[in-house]
Amino acid sequence: MQSRIEMNDTKARYGAVSRGLHWAMALAFAWIYCSTAAHYLLEDSALDKFLWPTHKQVGLLLMGLLLVRLLWSLLNRHRRPPSLNLAARLGHGLLYTGMFAIPFLGLLRQYGSGRAFSAFGLPVMSGFEGPKIQWMTDLGNSFHGLLGWTLLVLIVGHVAAVILHCIKGQGHILRRMAGSMTSD
Ligand code: HEM
Repeated sequence: MQSRIEMNDTKARYGAVSRGLHWAMALAFAWIYCSTAAHYLLEDSALDKFLWPTHKQVGLLLMGLLLVRLLWSLLNRHRRPPSLNLAARLGHGLLYTGMFAIPFLGLLRQYGSGRAFSAFGLPVMSGFEGPKIQWMTDLGNSFHGLLGWTLLVLIVGHVAAVILHCIKGQGHILRRMAGSMTSD
């Protein structure tokens, strides 16, 4: 019998689209946290000068990927692998909340500053004359960085939980996002 790659999720494992989105976002998050760490720990180094200018663009990309991911999970909601327990459901809820709120606050502050913003060579915000929109910049200043570091802690917890499951013999948790994708 011929095996083929499953695009949709099933109760047993995530399909190719969910996995692609998950691992693309993981890579983009690794990149954005490297850019932030280099900016604050190695200010003005060659690494900082290379990575920091990509921070906003990768942040926008993450926002786009998240919106596609939310739509895809909605379309697949009746056939996704179930959460292991309440803690996992809550943890995933917090991760999604952070993944939305952080780039949203970054973009809100960018808009409120009145400065133009383009990403990947495309204009995203044209900017405006006159005073900045104070409540937008204040919200971004107060919460973007704080929530950004909080999300990093949650991501470390998420990875630690998967490792713990593997140690306890529940390797299927990792395999449903990273194992074989073919259906027979
Ligand atoms: C999921 C996406 C994002 C993550 C995880 C993230 C994370 C972070 C973190 C952790 C900081 C350090 C804050 C500090 O220690 O003070 C930071 C700073 C910054 N981010 Fe982001 N960011 C994201 C998206 C964006 C976007 C979309 C923009 C703007 C379009 C943006 C603009 C900035 C700016 C200007 C700073 C420096 C000012 C500050 O300290 O707040 N970020 N970001």
